[in-house]
Amino acid sequence: MKIDFAAERPEAADVLAFIVTKNSFENFEFPLEKAQMVRDTATLARFKGEAGQSFLLINEEGGKLVRIVLLGVAEGDAGDYQKAGGEIVAKVQTSGAKHIAIHAGNLSAKAAAEAAYGAALRNWRMDKYRTKLAETSKPTVEALTVVGAPAEATGLWNSYQAIADGVALTKELVSEPANIIYPESFVERCQHLADLGVEITVLDDKEMAKLGMGALLGVAQGSRKPARMLVMRWDGTDGAQERPVALVGKGVTFDTGGISIKPAANMEDMKWDMGGAGAVAGAMKALAGRKAKAHVVGVCGLVENMPDGNAQRPGDIVTSMSGQTIEVLNTDAEGRLVLCDALHWVQEKYNPETVIDLATLTGAIIISLGSEHAGLFSNSDDLADKLLAAGKSSGDLLWRFPLSKAYDKLIDSPIADMKNIGARGAGSITAAQFLQRFIKDGVKWAHLDIAGTVWADKAGPVWDKGATGYGVRLLDRFVADNFEG
Ligand code: BES
Ligand code: MN
Ligand code: ZN
Repeated sequence: MKIDFAAERPEAADVLAFIVTKNSFENFEFPLEKAQMVRDTATLARFKGEAGQSFLLINEEGGKLVRIVLLGVAEGDAGDYQKAGGEIVAKVQTSGAKHIAIHAGNLSAKAAAEAAYGAALRNWRMDKYRTKLAETSKPTVEALTVVGAPAEATGLWNSYQAIADGVALTKELVSEPANIIYPESFVERCQHLADLGVEITVLDDKEMAKLGMGALLGVAQGSRKPARMLVMRWDGTDGAQERPVALVGKGVTFDTGGISIKPAANMEDMKWDMGGAGAVAGAMKALAGRKAKAHVVGVCGLVENMPDGNAQRPGDIVTSMSGQTIEVLNTDAEGRLVLCDALHWVQEKYNPETVIDLATLTGAIIISLGSEHAGLFSNSDDLADKLLAAGKSSGDLLWRFPLSKAYDKLIDSPIADMKNIGARGAGSITAAQFLQRFIKDGVKWAHLDIAGTVWADKAGPVWDKGATGYGVRLLDRFVADNFEG
C-alpha cells in the first residue's frame, strides 16, 4: 500500500474515511455531496464518535459508488488515531476497494500521521505461501492518501514510516516457518539494514567456540543448522555517546525442547521462538530508518534447538563465556543458555551502560499475563520506570515482576555454579534470575519476557492474527524518550 499526503482528494479514491471525536461529530462538515444523509444514517446506526466506533456506508459521490467510513476517537487520546487508521484498513483491505482517502482537515499533524501509521501497521500480512487465495480474500487496497493534513504531518510521517518498516521486518521474521528462517537465513534477511547505515557483523559457530560460548553452542549442537550471532550497530551520535544501549534478543529459530522434547500439540508455535531477536532486528531497522540520534547495538543469539545424536543431554554441564558453569537439567530451558553468552559478550565488547534483553523465555509468563502485557524484570527502578512509560505510550505494554536473593537461590546447583531451571513455582522469575547472574556490576539491565505478546490468535487494532511485531515500537519509544536528548 502506497501512502502519501495531498491537499486534494484524489479522483481515484473509492474509500472516503473520516475520523471524528465525540464532540465534533454532530456538527461535522462532511465534504460530501450528501453530507446530511451520511450524518443521519450514521446517527440512525447509533454512531456517536466513541473510541473504536465505526460506521460504513456505500453511497454515490462524484458520479460513482464509494465507501464512506466513519471512525470515532472519543476525546482523541494517544493511540486512538492509530487504532482508527488500523480499523479503516481492516474494514476495506479485501473489500474490492483500491484507494483510501483519509480526510484530515479536522486533524492535527500528529493525529493525521498517526492515522497513516496505524493503517500501515494494520495493512501488513503474509500471503506469499497462499497460491490459491480466493478472489474475495485477496487484499485489494493499493494506496492511501491523507488529504488536507497540516504541513508538518509529512515530516512526522517519515519517522512513523521507518518504525512501521521495522515492525514489518519483525512480523516477517516471526511469521516465516523454521525451514525458511534458521540462523544463517535470519542473518541474510537482516543484511539490508546495512543500506540504512547499520554496521553488521556476524559471528559464526567457530568464532563463538573460540570465545568460549559453551552455553549457546550447547543448545545448537543438536541441530544441523549452525549457530550465528548477529550484531547490528547504529550510531546516530557521531561517536558522542560512547557507551551504547545494548538490545539482546533470543533467536531460537525453532524450539523442539531438545532431548527434553516438547509434546506434539502446538509445537509449530515454536517457529516464533525467535521473536526477541526479531524485535531487536526490527527496532534496529526503525532506529536507523529514522536516523535516531542515539548509539544502539542489537545482538541476536541465533540457534535451533533440536534433538539428535549429538544433542546435549539433561545433566550435561556446560561452561559459559563468563566462566560460570551450568548444569543443564532441562534442555527445553534453552533460551537462557543462548542469552547468557550473548549478554556476557555484548558487555565485554561494547561496555554498554544499559542492556535490555527480549525473549520468548517462559510459558509461565503466559499463565501470569496472557497476551496483554509482557513481563518486565530489572535491577534498576529507574530503567524499569522508563520502560513502563515507553510501553504505555507505544502500546507495547509491560508489567513488572520482582527479583531477589531468595529467588536467585532457587537455581543453585549441587554440582555446578547454577542449574538452568528452578522448581515449579515462579518459573518466569527464576529464568530472569539466571540471566541476572551474567550482568556485570553497575550495568542497568532489564529483561522482557515476551512469550505471550509475540503472536496473537486474534486480530488486534494494528495487527492481524499472527505476528504482532511486539517490542519494536516499545524499544523505539524508549530510545527516543531517553537517549535522543
Ligand atoms: N520457548 C519456550 C517458552 C515458550 C512457551 C514460549 C510457550 C512461547 C510459548 C522456552 O524455551 C521453554 O521451553 N521454556 C520452558 C522452561 C521450563 C523447561 C523451565 C517452559 O516455559 O516450559
Ligand atoms: Mn524451550
Ligand atoms: Zn524456547
